[in-house]
Amino acid sequence: MPDPRADIAVIGGSGFYSFLADPTDHRVATPYGEVKVSTGEVAGRRVAFLPRHGEHHEFPPHRINYRANLWALRTVGVRQVLGPCAVGSLQPALGPGTLVLPDQLVDRTYRREQTYVDSGASHVPYADPYCPRTAAHVLATEPDVTGGGAMVVIEGPRFSTRAESQWYAAQGWALVNMTGVPEAPLARELGMCYSALALVTDLDAGLEEGEGVNQEEVFAMFGENIERLKEMLERVIGTLPDPDGCTCSTWMDGMDLPYDVPGPT
Ligand code: ADE
Repeated sequence: MPDPRADIAVIGGSGFYSFLADPTDHRVATPYGEVKVSTGEVAGRRVAFLPRHGEHHEFPPHRINYRANLWALRTVGVRQVLGPCAVGSLQPALGPGTLVLPDQLVDRTYRREQTYVDSGASHVPYADPYCPRTAAHVLATEPDVTGGGAMVVIEGPRFSTRAESQWYAAQGWALVNMTGVPEAPLARELGMCYSALALVTDLDAGLEEGEGVNQEEVFAMFGENIERLKEMLERVIGTLPDPDGCTCSTWMDGMDLPYDVPGPT
């Protein structure tokens, strides 16, 4: 049996279905279903990869089994998750091709299982949804990445109407996406460091003069930037600081959680 353990995970988004040079595939059982996780080495680190939409993009954003995915990654030992994703821009200054590390989330989803807390009174702190240590590291080492801004996560699979998009932009929010929730809050509930690495693929409908965003535009822009994104991830993985002592692993200290956080024994 190949050793399924990994320390860092990359969850690929639209147009991002493979990452590892010489992957070993594992079927990981979780209380929410089985998940295929690939592991391998990147920049000398043990890395797990899974494409959140499936290998053939079979799961639309609202059908992704987020709970199983995060549980499976933690089961193989992952404590740091990098979540690259395609996003629309709500600010003209963030044009297509811009890489952004958002620092806030606005949840506009409404029909997703987004917690492991299915009983009892465990209310996990969530004021700052992303890992501060990873953010500081990425922003210090990757001059190409713009830091900050709120990402609003819509239910999808449709894009926003022009009025919805104008409303989001008027709030001062920076980005719009369909998968950032519940991936990030589930990682928090498992004590993992989580960072969204957003690639702007389009100006959202509220900013555009024309027809509004469409799927071809998103996939084409993601395709144009995928190699750049992978190279950036490799550099970040190679130098990512240790998660020991990061606040991400301590938010649930002292809570009477209705589940045991999984992990290698
Ligand atoms: N993903 C990529 N572009 C998007 C947009 N404009 N709205 C929602 N999700 C997106």
